[in-house]
Amino acid sequence: MLVLAVAVISMSGCKKKDTTAEKPPAKPEATHEVKPEAKPEAKETRQMSANKESFGQTPDGKQVDLYTLTNTGGIRARIISFGAILVSLEVPDRNGNLADITLGFDKLDGYLGEHPYFGGIIGRYANRIGKAKFRLDGVEYKLAANNDENHLHGGIKGFDKKVWKFEDIGVTTEGAMVKLSYISEDGEEGYPGNLACSVIYTLTEDDELKISYEAETDKKTVVNLTNHSYFNLAGQGSGDILGHEMMINADKYTVVDEGLIPTGENRNVKGTPMDFTTPMTIGSRIAQVEGGYDHNYVLNSGGGSLTLAAKVQEPTSGRIMEIYTDQPGVQFYTGNFLDGSITGKAGKVYKKHYGFCLETQHFPDSPNKPDFPSVILQPGQKYATTTVHKFYH
Ligand code: BGC
Repeated sequence: MLVLAVAVISMSGCKKKDTTAEKPPAKPEATHEVKPEAKPEAKETRQMSANKESFGQTPDGKQVDLYTLTNTGGIRARIISFGAILVSLEVPDRNGNLADITLGFDKLDGYLGEHPYFGGIIGRYANRIGKAKFRLDGVEYKLAANNDENHLHGGIKGFDKKVWKFEDIGVTTEGAMVKLSYISEDGEEGYPGNLACSVIYTLTEDDELKISYEAETDKKTVVNLTNHSYFNLAGQGSGDILGHEMMINADKYTVVDEGLIPTGENRNVKGTPMDFTTPMTIGSRIAQVEGGYDHNYVLNSGGGSLTLAAKVQEPTSGRIMEIYTDQPGVQFYTGNFLDGSITGKAGKVYKKHYGFCLETQHFPDSPNKPDFPSVILQPGQKYATTTVHKFYH
């Protein structure tokens, strides 16, 4: 399959069940509530499509593409080749009205400047590595200390700030997709090995945005890739996310020190403000958590197979997002460092707690924590991981 530039399959006039379009093969099992059957009919003709256009140029003259994926349910995801960033995600509410539910910028300029990783693919190592170093086979690798003495989100110029190579776009049996790739050279940001990575964003007819990552190396290295989208299910820039109801399928979290580096202790959430095993509003106990939530939850699944990690519900719009992942952890971050200094899409000002992130990942500082699930990738092995964001109302 290789469909270039524009691919459109007409789906108008069909109810989803009658459509001849193929369904995604393996649908994640919901372990909590089941998706409601009744959905409002699409008011207008909608098509599943995937197309590519220009989003501008970097200061050094590199062309940046914008890819738009749509499904017949009306969901629209926009991705750019700079940082493989998800720049917007429009999702219907219970009345069928679309809103963009991710924070970010209208133009490339915003993404080129300083910002807290809005929508980007984070690599080579998502989250923190303590004291910005780790050892592999007795060799010490020094990384940039870009978060006090620690290393954060891949360094000074992580994968979210690189121009990714366009590989493929089209409509497949799974949905509308775009594939991008990036080769991180041996020694880049201090990491060993040439790492060939790819990411595929797929928007399915089951209203899921699926992000699949692959990587291979020619030298033993560490890898931990994620997507750093900030969500507000009421619509980006519309207020804080404290009223969203959150469920996280985790009985434990990794306890951290002042620098947000895990101490090695995985503590039970039961009876603490960290407990989201039953749905609770994000704001109900946030005042008891110093600085707000910025913690890695140890998913009950243990990782390895696509399992429900979190479910978020916004009562006013009715939008619900479920996240399924095969990763062992998820960083729940409540936009604690947003302070009104960034003006984003449609002139909206992003204040504290205006977005939340659920970054599916391996645990922070795993390269220095032999007891944590391994993040080592050897030559000949394939790193492959998938996270699915499923929407309904
Ligand atoms: C980290 C936060 C950080 C944020 C933005 C999150 O993944 O856990 O500590 O402030 O990303 O950089």
